[in-house]
Amino acid sequence: MATREARESDVNPFLQGNFAPWRMEGEAPDLEVIGTLPRELHGTYFRNGPNQAFEPIGRYHWFDGDGMVHAIHLEDGRAHYRNRWVASEGLKEERAAGHALYPGLLEFGKMEAPKFKVTANTNTVFHANRLLGLVESSLPTELDARTLETRGLYDFGGKLAGAMTAHPKLDPVNGEMLFFGYSPFPPYLQYYVVDASGAIVHAEPIDLAWPTMMHDFAVTERHVIFLLCPIVFDLENVAKGGSPFAWQPERGTRIGVLPRRGRSEDVRWFETDPCYVFHPLNAYDADGDSVVVDVHRYQQLLFMNRESARDPNWRDSQIARLHRFTMNLATGGIRSDALDDHEGEFPRVDERRVGRKHRFGYFATTGPEGNPSLQPLFTAVAKIDLERGNTVELRPHGAHNGCGEPVFVPRRDDAAEDDGWVLYLAYDHERNASELLVVESRDFTGEPVARVRLPHRVPYGFHGNWVAGV
Ligand SMILES: [Fe+2]
Repeated sequence: MATREARESDVNPFLQGNFAPWRMEGEAPDLEVIGTLPRELHGTYFRNGPNQAFEPIGRYHWFDGDGMVHAIHLEDGRAHYRNRWVASEGLKEERAAGHALYPGLLEFGKMEAPKFKVTANTNTVFHANRLLGLVESSLPTELDARTLETRGLYDFGGKLAGAMTAHPKLDPVNGEMLFFGYSPFPPYLQYYVVDASGAIVHAEPIDLAWPTMMHDFAVTERHVIFLLCPIVFDLENVAKGGSPFAWQPERGTRIGVLPRRGRSEDVRWFETDPCYVFHPLNAYDADGDSVVVDVHRYQQLLFMNRESARDPNWRDSQIARLHRFTMNLATGGIRSDALDDHEGEFPRVDERRVGRKHRFGYFATTGPEGNPSLQPLFTAVAKIDLERGNTVELRPHGAHNGCGEPVFVPRRDDAAEDDGWVLYLAYDHERNASELLVVESRDFTGEPVARVRLPHRVPYGFHGNWVAGV
């Protein structure tokens, strides 16, 4: 038994406040709604995030926690809530033992034989009538979309042997799902296309110049875009008990553009200044021979580096800003342009614009009171209009009330871009509980049309998605 002084949860900010895990699973029908839920909102908002079930062994990283999915079902103007842990095999072992058995990322180097718990804590995707919980290190985990019960690992009928990114892309026109998986061992990158029925129809290992942590990617109507940033797997350092990732800016960043059904040798690489990208906003094929990708760009990423906190650039390295890369396939040239000054993360577009030119973007950001904490705590959400001078509208919630990723839901299938609602979770520090906010997107700074009061707090987490009709 660890001594009280040694408890990670007493000292780690990612196990405290509204980062602390919520320990109960449950259901709450007919939630209190302030305002009126639009009748068009018929479906479920799923939010995934880390929710550590047991006191960690050693140091805890925010990416380590067991996945917990929170589902808010909206129908006929009423709201119902349900939440469940992802019951991974590792978590079942830990439950049987009554304590943690799997150390986290920061203790990776101390493990004699590395073993992973498939936390599925990062995102969900609903495709071909299947809900998958996702974490980039592993196979996806199938969940029951109604009950959130864990069905087990899912490997596309034996066709997926390795990891799947937590950020697959759904083509809004042909129903394909495109994704990749990365690995510290060759092949460093594998690319897949899944057809609308859920079958893998294209699989291709992609040659990379170095093994990296590639969190997300982007697609256009004709291409996929890989971001090879200079965060490099460093297995020698792991053997010495250090971080598995080294920041090596001298390598620069390379952006690879590949036809959607292309082979590894078809990738066109474009070199730009060193940076890191967790999340692109969207990408599209522009006029002529250009491909555009908008991203939240960090100047550097000192990730899981024990020296990070002592580096004077550490705080700034935690700030990402919207940025546009334009690759010209005819000339091989690349443009790199800042789009906006706001700190931001969790960028999203209207899902019907994925791979197509977008006008609007939505993201989590920091309100005018700033964010003095060193935690990725966003206290506002923002909407940017890229056709009106990159104008940004802000919805600040106050320094103690963190906001999650904003998700756009169209009013109807054929509604114009931005004609609908933005849904996001916000923590109410005074009530110590969370709310799902429903904001009329064209009245972004106005009163929400509905605030769904959840019965308790939802810990700060990662990604949310709306699934219509489920
Ligand atoms: Fe992500």
